Amino acid sequence: MAKKTIDQVDVASKRVLTRVDFNVPIDDEGKITDDRRIRQALPTIKSVIERRGKLILMSHLGRPEGKGFEPEHSLKPVAARLAELLPGVKVMFPGNDCVGPEAASAISAMNDREIVVLENLRFHKQEKTGDGLFAAKLANYGDIYCNDAFGTAHRNDASMLAVPLAMKGKPRVAGLLLQKELKYLSEAINNAKPPFVAVLGGAKVSDKLGAIRNLMSKVDTILVGGAMAYTFLKALGQEVGSSLVEARMVNEANAILAAAAASRTDLVLPQDHVCGKQISQYTPVEVHEGNIPYGWMGLDIGPKTSSQFGTILAGAKTVIWNGPMGVFETQPFDVGTKQVAQAIARATKKGAMSVVGGGETAAAVEAFGMAEQFSHVSTGGGASLEMLEGKAFDSIAVLDDA
Ligand code: 3PG
Repeated sequence: MAKKTIDQVDVASKRVLTRVDFNVPIDDEGKITDDRRIRQALPTIKSVIERRGKLILMSHLGRPEGKGFEPEHSLKPVAARLAELLPGVKVMFPGNDCVGPEAASAISAMNDREIVVLENLRFHKQEKTGDGLFAAKLANYGDIYCNDAFGTAHRNDASMLAVPLAMKGKPRVAGLLLQKELKYLSEAINNAKPPFVAVLGGAKVSDKLGAIRNLMSKVDTILVGGAMAYTFLKALGQEVGSSLVEARMVNEANAILAAAAASRTDLVLPQDHVCGKQISQYTPVEVHEGNIPYGWMGLDIGPKTSSQFGTILAGAKTVIWNGPMGVFETQPFDVGTKQVAQAIARATKKGAMSVVGGGETAAAVEAFGMAEQFSHVSTGGGASLEMLEGKAFDSIAVLDDA
């Protein structure tokens, strides 16, 4: 069911309490190393500010202990970055407690078109436990509740669920980023134009199990790369050297291969591998086809696999991609991931709809400077994976229907 969105409600002079996902990477010097999640929230932020609303932004950052303020998990650098992105807009960051007296008085003194960014919600353990009293304090800040935190949509944290429940009777709407994420992900999964190809990678089969099972009946082809491929190859009896294998998942991998064989979906595993002795740019490198010899570790898909995946992707009309093909952070093991990204980008240019899952895969396409070449790059890591698993989210169900 489509949800009512922020642009469908009158926000003039109203306090719009908006949950965003500003959980961005911050280095030791307090510098944000990837501000995509902040930039992607701008359409909702501008929609409220340009229509004379008062915007209160709340988010978590990282996983603090929940026992009070921790400087390395402060949202202060995020508020500063937001101010840079919105020249001429007053962005306030009151106190170091999202439900402290400074936050409350800053909100009550707000003028139209101003923004208050609250300090990290997870400095209170009640955020994770979904505590009703904590939620009621936050709920008091708003006349309207807006959820634009797709990256956190799979969590039932207080700000995601107990707060909108406490605001029953007031408008509770989806932000424009949340709407966009749901549109692309659910359209890709439920209304895909064939041929529909899923590219799954990353380290562990266990992380992708639910997605593989859910996609099996829906997609024409699943291309498997990344270290998770070695658990499948081991299950097929191949030698995988010292490649990463999840021993406890070998039986499960066999069951998936049997299910794929009995279904209409082709599950394609890598036929060759770029191998090293360890994960380092200085390691000796060899390409092995089929078996991987003792002492060698598969760290990327090989050239024959890249070219086979490229051919399959060239004919695709819908592509979803979650998980890198190799250790893309370490050269030369970035090549397979880059070539798959290029193949999906070419298919997109020819009219295919492509959705790149967040987390590591989004980081990879950002690092390659290719983020604009896909239909959609998700801001959700765990959330986009859970959507691929076919899960529904309580945090979205609670919002008003359109
Ligand atoms: C994410 O980065 O996946 C979200 O911000 C959720 O963070 P969490 O896994 O710490 O709940």
